[in-house]
This record gives sequence, C-alpha cells and structure tokens, in this order.
Amino acid sequence: MSSEPRDQETHGAGDERPVPSEAELSEMSREELVQLGGRLDGVEIVEYDDPWPVKGTRAEKRSERLVAMWFGLAGLSALAFLAAFIWWPWQYTPPTPRDGQDHFLYSLYTPLIGGTLGLSILAVGIGVILYTKRFIPHEVAVQQRHDGPSAEVDRKTAAAHLADAGSRSTIGRRKLIKRTAGFGAGTFGLAVGVYALGGLVRDPWGGPEGEKALSTTPWQHRQPGEKVFLRRHTGNFGEISLVRPEDLAAGGMETVYPFREEDRHDHEALVHAIKAGDASVMLIRLRPDDAAHVVKREGQEDFNYGDYYAYTKICSHLGCPTSLFEQRTNRILCPCHQSQFDALQYAKPVFGPAARALAQLPITVDPETGYFIATGDFIEPIGPAYWERES
Ligand code: FES
Repeated sequence: MSSEPRDQETHGAGDERPVPSEAELSEMSREELVQLGGRLDGVEIVEYDDPWPVKGTRAEKRSERLVAMWFGLAGLSALAFLAAFIWWPWQYTPPTPRDGQDHFLYSLYTPLIGGTLGLSILAVGIGVILYTKRFIPHEVAVQQRHDGPSAEVDRKTAAAHLADAGSRSTIGRRKLIKRTAGFGAGTFGLAVGVYALGGLVRDPWGGPEGEKALSTTPWQHRQPGEKVFLRRHTGNFGEISLVRPEDLAAGGMETVYPFREEDRHDHEALVHAIKAGDASVMLIRLRPDDAAHVVKREGQEDFNYGDYYAYTKICSHLGCPTSLFEQRTNRILCPCHQSQFDALQYAKPVFGPAARALAQLPITVDPETGYFIATGDFIEPIGPAYWERES
C-alpha cells in the first residue's frame, strides 16, 4: 500500500471526498479525527449537548449518587444471593410441628435466591439506563449511507468516535460510579457463575452424620451390627414387606430397598429409603444349574447367599435403572443404551457401552427372623464414574 498522500478516495458511487495521508492521520488529535470522520462520512451532527456543561453542580452529584446507589444495590443483592445460595438451609424438611421452624426456613430458600438475583439484575439495568440518560451526551446526527466496505480512514475515525464518546461520557473521572459499577457487575457475574455451576457440584464428603455423599448409599450401616433388611415396595411406604429366600422362584428377580426396624414408624425415613436414587437393588435368584457356573469377583466371594445375588440397579454407564433380568441368558439389561451384564460373572458388562460391573451388595439371611439382610454397604461407588472413583 502506498504511503503517498491521496487526494481523493471513493466512498460509494460517485461520492469522492478528500482524505489525509496516513502520516497526516497519525498526526491528528482525537478531536480532529472525530470531526474528519463526520466530514468524510457525510455526517452532520445536529446536536451534541454535554448534559452537565457546568461541572460539579449539586444536581450532577445527585445524579451520580443515584446511579451509584443502583450499582451498589446490585452488588449487595448479588452478595445476598451468594450468601443464600451457599449457606441457607436448602434441603427439604417436612412441615411437622417438631421441625416447623426448619421447614419455614427451607421454604424461604427459593424465594430468597430468586428475589436477590432478580433484584441484582434489575438494579444493574436501572443503573445502566440512568447513567446513559444522565451522563452520555445526547447526540443527534444525520449520515448518508454509502456502499461497499469501509476504508482505513473510516475505521480509524470510527474508533476515534467511540473513544471520544467514552471520554465525553465522563466515566473516566467518575470514580464512585466506576467503583460501584465494577462492584455491581463483578458480584453479579460471580452470582450468575455460581448459580450456573453451584447446583452441579456436590460435596463428596458432605451429608448427614458425616456420610460420604458419593460413596455411601442408604444401605450404609448406622452402627456396627445393625440389621438392614431387604424390603419390597408394595406401593404403600408404610407397609413393610420383608423378603425371605422362599419368596423368589429360581430364575426370579425382585427389586428391594433397605429397611431398619427403628424406621418403622418414621414415614420420612421410609420414603427416603425407597426414593433415594441409589437405594434400589436387584435381588436375583439363579437357577441351580446356572449357579454352579458362577464366577465370583475377587474380594466378593461371600457377598451372595446361596443362589441369591444382589446388584445395584444403577447402571455403571450413565446411571439408568437396569431393571430387566433375562432368565434364559442370566443377563441384566439396561434399556437406555443396551448395556448387558452377566449375572453369572459378578454382573460384569458383556455388551454395550458400560465398562464396569454393577456394584454388588453383600447379603445373607438373618438367622433370627429368616429374612434377607445386607451385611454392609456396597464396597465401591455405584453408577457412573466420578473423579475419585478407583474402580
Ligand atoms: S445408562 Fe445403561 S447403558 Fe447407558
């Protein structure tokens, strides 16, 4: 590209206007570039009023404080949202007389996070609108359109226009507004980020009584020697139907859930034991001929009771319920992506995308009652992998 001065440059059909050379352009001040840009583009500035021609008036300061107040409110609301999101009791608490206060606090969780985040968004919006209306010069300009891409000179002058607009908005010298806007926008952005990601993060060590949320299930014994029975769900949470070996025919399968005698009259505990996502287990009774060919997993040789084997229903691929047991082939099927697990080989995957065996629950029969009990929790996390899983 030539650096020679150019006297004429085309800006559309038949529109020829003189432009300065690159050397001249680099010498020009921003003010001059703004004027040049307007001239070259055929822009006529009809009005360009400074909203505060007399600086430092009480009215100007009042406006500044008003804008700052809205940005400050946005920041405080976002902080309140963050605090509520992180620390407010969010786990469901039933509305019983005993826990009435807890339920009341829990019921405020959603309105609180919705209200504080909504107020923060509203306050940021009002602050921006107020600043625009009260501090940005009100320009009225008329410009003729031209065809084709913009020339270098147009790009430079447009950039100068933008910088000039920023400068004339006086944001550079309004520290209070800059700080509160930074506070409001920063905390608001943080709140949105926490809101988007916070719900996806679960503390693997959190949970009542120090349980490891990701590596324990409702089958976990609360104290050593506790009897955790296998119960079926009849449709009525309060109806306790325990499972005995003679309840299952050879080749049969039943879905079972944990039950503790101490929970018999605790409706919430009974509901939780059945509804918890990681509680459901398939109790399978193999046919004697098939059971003779079972291959047990190392370290799990005593997890079964005779021909009875218990596996989690949570698929090791993506966590769907593997609720189909094919008696003829002894395969457990997951309907989501067609993974198949061999019940004769510790439920290891034999087809489909699943890469790990279904976790096996150690079971036996309680000699006092004759019902099935779990002798412990699963010894590995169930379902899909997560970052700390070792198997
Ligand atoms: S979730 Fe079971 S195969 Fe995908």
